[in-house]
Amino acid sequence: MSTNILIDSVVSWEMPRLQLYTKQDWEENVDEIAKEWKITKAILTNDFKAELGESIVLRRKDQKVTLLGLGDTKSFKKIEDAVRSHVFKSKDKMGKAYIIDLHCLTHKLHKIIDPIISGILLGHYMLKGIAPQVDIHLDIPKKNKGKIILAIEDAKKVAEAKMWTMYLVDTPSNIIDPQGFADEIEAKSNDFGFDATTFRSREGLKTLGLHAVLAVNAGSSNLPSFSILEYTPKKPITNIAFVGKGVTFDTGGVSIKGSQNMHWMKCDMGGAAAVAGAIAAIASLKLPIAVTGFIPATDNMVDGSSVKPGDIIQSHSGKTIEIIDTDAEGRLCLADGVSFASKMKNFEHIVDIATLTGSSVMTLGYEAGALFSNNDETAELITKSSDVSDEKVWQLPLWDEYAKGIQSDIADVKNYPGNPAAGAITAAKFIQAFVPEKTKWAHLDIAGVAFGANGYGKDRNATGYGVHLLMEFAKQVIKNNQ
Ligand code: BES
Ligand code: ZN
Ligand code: ZN
Repeated sequence: MSTNILIDSVVSWEMPRLQLYTKQDWEENVDEIAKEWKITKAILTNDFKAELGESIVLRRKDQKVTLLGLGDTKSFKKIEDAVRSHVFKSKDKMGKAYIIDLHCLTHKLHKIIDPIISGILLGHYMLKGIAPQVDIHLDIPKKNKGKIILAIEDAKKVAEAKMWTMYLVDTPSNIIDPQGFADEIEAKSNDFGFDATTFRSREGLKTLGLHAVLAVNAGSSNLPSFSILEYTPKKPITNIAFVGKGVTFDTGGVSIKGSQNMHWMKCDMGGAAAVAGAIAAIASLKLPIAVTGFIPATDNMVDGSSVKPGDIIQSHSGKTIEIIDTDAEGRLCLADGVSFASKMKNFEHIVDIATLTGSSVMTLGYEAGALFSNNDETAELITKSSDVSDEKVWQLPLWDEYAKGIQSDIADVKNYPGNPAAGAITAAKFIQAFVPEKTKWAHLDIAGVAFGANGYGKDRNATGYGVHLLMEFAKQVIKNNQ
């Protein structure tokens, strides 16, 4: 990695220094700082109150110290974003080596160190070009030093996994196509510590029975891929599965999308990227749970061999599907994915994640993913994970009444009711038709949260949503089994 976080308490005053303060820590330290910088307390507190994201630069000869406020929040996302935003905006001025001084964070540093580290590393994430080598010297307090160093090491691993997810989503589909996605998974499996098996031909996917994925791929000149990511610790407490929608580009197919924002549809593998990142994080943290990821990857293209509205296709489960709208392709990939997962092993939980519907964006905007589950325990574990990770979810119902619209006269099920009412729910009902009733399953529709206008670029870019949520889910499942 080009951003090195070093824990070496460098005391050089020549290097720029970034000092972090929570409100409480600022109040306790302000007298001393005022004295040190020969500023009256009244002036100093007027200029800087350590509000979340607030900053001030203090200078003396060649010394430059920036104070950055963290407010009084414990929210992972708020702290991560405040640090990331500051680092992102000031990194050019900070140069090739700088110090981040955490000495003044005397209150519960171990509780906020994770988002701080994540914010620092994400602040150096680049959408374009190769990130320059930067050495960040962390100056940490002596109190709980061992514990904090371990937390820093873990937070680095999770941030690296998250940035991998972001890179997968941000990279255009002509660069990471379905084969490229499988290449990425293979290339990173050793570093993160999981096993990867990739199937890369139409014949291969046909042998596995992934007929619905193949139907989505029918109009493409890019071969599909199907990747299985497996992390198995020595003594797993239990096992879970993640399935991610890996549509590397979604034109809509024959039911083609309008062109205005079609370029955003490179993000349509955001669910698959979150699965890859979450397994990378879980494996590098060596959590005591076995996790398997399933990633069907294809683009959704238009040509003479594309699937058409009105066609009937086969699926992995054996159920036939009437295609009403070829733009409802993600659910076809997930139908095969969840069916394949449920037949491979008896997983304690199966969670699928996908940039699935515009309807979920209409419902929850850009703030939360939509959660669906056939099991209260699974839903509760996801909700808890959401509280911890600060990646918001909101549960929507799966009442059977919503399945009426996807009943077909000529096939077992149809992929779209023909009208957009409750579109996120009808999509979830469709996937549920491919999940065995006894399987504890949850579905996350992340169309509004995987890719957004977040201030870290001129256009939308990847958020890494899902990595932290799914990693935390694995931790909650472990806890729940102890
Ligand atoms: N990939 C889209 C969903 C999407 C929307 C992702 C916005 C990211 C941001 C999905 O495949 C799709 O096209 N859904 C359609 C389904 C409809 C035609 C049945 C939708 O939601 O409009
Ligand atoms: Zn679509
Ligand atoms: Zn799609």
